[in-house]
Amino acid sequence: MEGQTITGATQICGIIGDPIEHTMSPVMHNAAFRQLGMDWAYLPFRVGQETVGRAIEGVKALNIRGLNVTIPHKTAVIPYLDGLDPAAERMGAVNTIVNDNGKLTGYNTDAAGFLKALRENNIEPRGASIVVLGAGGASRGISFLLAENGADLTILNRRLERAEDLAGQISTATGTGVKALALDEVNLSLALEKADVLVNTTKVGMIPDVDRTPVPAGRLRSGLAVFDIVYNPLKTRLLADAGAAGALTIGGFEMLVWQGALAFTLWTGQAAPVDLMRKTAREALGNED
Ligand code: ATR
Repeated sequence: MEGQTITGATQICGIIGDPIEHTMSPVMHNAAFRQLGMDWAYLPFRVGQETVGRAIEGVKALNIRGLNVTIPHKTAVIPYLDGLDPAAERMGAVNTIVNDNGKLTGYNTDAAGFLKALRENNIEPRGASIVVLGAGGASRGISFLLAENGADLTILNRRLERAEDLAGQISTATGTGVKALALDEVNLSLALEKADVLVNTTKVGMIPDVDRTPVPAGRLRSGLAVFDIVYNPLKTRLLADAGAAGALTIGGFEMLVWQGALAFTLWTGQAAPVDLMRKTAREALGNED
């Protein structure tokens, strides 16, 4: 990899989290800066829970232009910011901070990254029947955005009351009728019969449980698009089964790339070199194993 020159004028971005060693974001963003000939650099910062506030004060003090925020700080940073964009406020989670001359604004590009990845695959939520598995934090951002963009939404969750809660909140906020069901085989087969898109936001299938899947293979078919936001492994059992059934498949890795691309644009005001970011992140993931 080519070296990067840090100058007196280099603008700094970075990521805070704990642990942080496995993040793909530095390679993605630094490759993008180099490609565009920008005098910018992106650094990883391991920040423990007890020092989040001081780290954010440091962003102002050191005039760092932007930060990504990852586990476990996505909610903890909020009290230290000067403002939130509506998506971050609704999700109660921030993954991107922009520093405008000492004024820090929190954004969340995770759900927007999901939508971008969906549209890149020529899937438009408006009028589509979409089944979302899971009702946790990841589902919340994605489900709100899908409903706002005109999807006909059904949320299935292991604990029904969480699905009902989320569906109720979205229905009230957007005026759309979001359905909630318990995540079991009968409801799955019912919901998937007429579905155009299936989205898995649960952790089922994530390393180390790579043999597990939230949906029996027999429920998958061509004509269905399957988006699994799990990116570790890159090809989950759900995606493998969906591919074998002739369904269109989209992996969580695409969401990862697009959340980064959207953050890049928030900091720099420039379109991100997405293909390059995808390629470098892919290589970094490959090198880990
Ligand atoms: P995140 O912010 O990543 O969404 P979360 O808020 O902990 O994390 O939500 C995890 C989601 O995965 C939830 O929908 C959870 O279902 P419950 O609300 O019933 O707990 C779902 N999930 C986790 N493990 C699961 C499993 N073994 N089977 C089905 N759903 C599971």
